[in-house]
Amino acid sequence: MIRVTLPRFARFEAWRAAARDLASARIPPGGVIWADPDMPSDLFGAEPLPRRGPHQVRATQDFLQLARQVASHSDPERWSLLYAALMRAQTDRRFLSNPADPMLDRLSRMAKSVRRDIHKMHAFVRFHELPSDGPRRRFAAWFEPEHLILEAGTPFFARRFADMDWLIATPEGVARFTGGAIDYAPPEPRPHLPDDHSHDLWQTYFANIFNPARIKTQAMRSEMPLKYWKNLPETRLIPDMLADAPRRVQAMREAGASTAPAFAPKVTARIRQPISEASPATLADAGTQAARCTRCELCHAATQTVWGEGAPDAFLMIVGEAPGDHEDLQGRPFVGPAGQLLRKTMAETGLDSERIWLTNAVKHFRFTPRGRRRLHQSPDGSHIQHCRWWLDLERRLIAPRLTLALGATAAYALTGSRKPLTPRRGRIERGLDGGPVLITWHPSLILRLPSDRARTALAEFRADLGLAANHIA
Ligand code: URA
Repeated sequence: MIRVTLPRFARFEAWRAAARDLASARIPPGGVIWADPDMPSDLFGAEPLPRRGPHQVRATQDFLQLARQVASHSDPERWSLLYAALMRAQTDRRFLSNPADPMLDRLSRMAKSVRRDIHKMHAFVRFHELPSDGPRRRFAAWFEPEHLILEAGTPFFARRFADMDWLIATPEGVARFTGGAIDYAPPEPRPHLPDDHSHDLWQTYFANIFNPARIKTQAMRSEMPLKYWKNLPETRLIPDMLADAPRRVQAMREAGASTAPAFAPKVTARIRQPISEASPATLADAGTQAARCTRCELCHAATQTVWGEGAPDAFLMIVGEAPGDHEDLQGRPFVGPAGQLLRKTMAETGLDSERIWLTNAVKHFRFTPRGRRRLHQSPDGSHIQHCRWWLDLERRLIAPRLTLALGATAAYALTGSRKPLTPRRGRIERGLDGGPVLITWHPSLILRLPSDRARTALAEFRADLGLAANHIA
């Protein structure tokens, strides 16, 4: 009896080389013992591998692919089965394309079980961060697969987590990824895995995607078999979530259906509109196109584009920062508290809003959600750059005699300068397109200042609007 002992790793390649030699000498399957490295050597015959024989050995790519997968199966008979299949294929190739053939069926089921195990490994390995004093973060994980899939399953992690060092320990051995290269070593005791804070976040996510009204324990068990649970931090939550599900479903029933937020229909209508490539020739066309703008990410969360409004032949253009919560919902600029202050001061200084163009440097509302509230955030440089396309277009089509910049964002969008506002307020600067830009405070700043400073700022604001009125008169 010939005995072939395969190595712990790279064993498929070793099996393939030995099988080729044996088959070329037409050694029958019953004449070979295939041994894994941990098998005691004295139990079996010990004839060495013969030299390559005279016969040519043929194997199709499909067979080799199947054999590579079967090689990771935990069944100790896999090597002799594969060799028997290889020998049979030398004289009867057709059995490999007959799914009803019992030998092919058995090999196919083994390969399928290996593929499923690899898939579970990719889904269920949970890394724990280890202390690191080098430039790369370090992680370790313990995983108990059903088959011998360490080599077949870990290149996925090398691609996915190429910028960190990690090890995955299994009862079969250890895969170590260090500095971009992966090595395999014999099994070691299970590593110490410290608590990892990212697991709390992961548990929170898991708890939030759990739908108490759609419990399918059977499907859950088949997707996430119980044998993996002990190494998955999120599974600790499952018994309590299942127990609490009827109460939560009852509470949902009692609460009734919730209505979509006020902005939802507008968002839906907007995202269904096609985007045009043509450059608009009129203010009305520009407004229609701006309504579909996706130049920056603000369009995704905002309700709608807030386009400018007023007289298309205005002598004065007033530019604010960006719409706020009220403007976002109503789709009009300056309708919230700051807008009311602006409109009141305009009326006091003789500026007729019907004869002015009111707009913003950025046309979408930027905010952070806080519960049901949306907290205003100033747009950043990239939003201003993207939206300058619309502001420039508005300015070309309106060609105002003077532009009033409210606050730092508008001043930057119009002049390109981020210099502090205090020395610039009340002065006329040259805009990026060459037109005059008068700089003043943003009314929302006046609303936020303590009363004594607000009084002064309001007086300055009023004076600046008066100056603008005189300039265009
Ligand atoms: N603040 C702005 O800058 N613009 C608006 O439209 C409303 C508030």
